[in-house]
Amino acid sequence: MQAFLKGAATQSAKPQKDKPAAGTCGEKKPKSVPWVEKYRPKCVDEVAFQEEVVAVLKKSLEGADLPNLLFYGPPGTGKTSTILAAARELYGPELYRQRVLELNASDERGIQVIREKVKTFAQLTVAGKRADGKPCPPFKIIILDEADSMTNAAQAALRRTMEKESRTTRFCLICNYVSRIIEPLTSRCSKFRFKPLDDKIQEERLLEICEKENLKYSKEAIGALVKVSEGDLRKAITFLQSAARLNGEKEITENIVIEIAGVVPSKMINSLLQTCYNSTFDKLEIAIKTMIDEGYAAMQIISQLHDAIIEEKLNDCQKSAITEKIAEVDKCLADGADEYLQMMGLCSVIMQQATRNN
Ligand SMILES: Nc1ncnc2c1ncn2[C@@H]1O[C@H](COP(=O)(O)OP(=O)(O)OP(=O)(O)O)[C@@H](O)[C@H]1O
Ligand SMILES: [Mg+2]
Repeated sequence: MQAFLKGAATQSAKPQKDKPAAGTCGEKKPKSVPWVEKYRPKCVDEVAFQEEVVAVLKKSLEGADLPNLLFYGPPGTGKTSTILAAARELYGPELYRQRVLELNASDERGIQVIREKVKTFAQLTVAGKRADGKPCPPFKIIILDEADSMTNAAQAALRRTMEKESRTTRFCLICNYVSRIIEPLTSRCSKFRFKPLDDKIQEERLLEICEKENLKYSKEAIGALVKVSEGDLRKAITFLQSAARLNGEKEITENIVIEIAGVVPSKMINSLLQTCYNSTFDKLEIAIKTMIDEGYAAMQIISQLHDAIIEEKLNDCQKSAITEKIAEVDKCLADGADEYLQMMGLCSVIMQQATRNN
């Protein structure tokens, strides 16, 4: 039982008041919570951009039954926040601990745990009233966050429990990759895809935080934050907090955002491409060495090179040969290959393809 109690107590949506956030050198200001936690939606209404799931949850807040849920979608789109907020609204802070079992990838979730903890928790019966007399749903919620990291055997063990305990328990499975959840489980749940957040919505959220935190910023800086975070609001908020820390009282500018996000300046990418097109192999070697020495991640460079190549004046055959190499390099880098060698390999192909036309 201990792990589940721990599970329910951890990842709380409440800011951890007495814990200083990393990097604040132990200052004991209550404000030093990571902003992603501080601005995590506290109620379902505050969840932006995920209308379908919010509508279903609001119905169940009004007393309707709740189906088993499966939330999936890219990181930082509100999956964990949504179910935590809904559970808090359903049960209130006191009952929350008794009624919600939250297990994520940091908890042991092998088949044994599913058989023992989840089953035992699911079997507990529950009343339909809170201690304060207010009605509350006559079921418990088991949240299995990051469910795509559960073994197939553990997932299979859930099938029967889910059906058998449906009178008293609802499950909420959360994952990034729905294809990693076994079919019998997905068919027992209502599926909700969390979309990457729209640029405008992200901008609104960021502006709201800037205002609440009294930050000085330029419009371009917010635009850059939205662009580099690609629909991941957690990433955008984290970058904003880093920029604010780094900057103190000064204005947050586009350049600062770009620097924090580790984005390679487009001038540098263009110059690398020009070296591939018009210069010598020796110069190419130096250019790549410089970029890597300056600390730019090869993954970031190839992702930006990819975007640039698509826009370049090359023919389809050249573009396809280069993008094929980019895919290969991406895989090698993900497997831990040497950054310099991979970059050289890719740029050599760009050089060959570019000279083929001339
Ligand atoms: N739709 C949203 N509405 C409001 N805030 C959001 C939304 N999505 C993300 N956020 C912000 O981003 C933070 C992270 O969101 P959350 O933990 O819910 O993401 P997630 O979808 O569970 O991501 P992961 O797949 O990485 O676990 C929240 O604390 C909140 O500040
Ligand atoms: Mg999550």
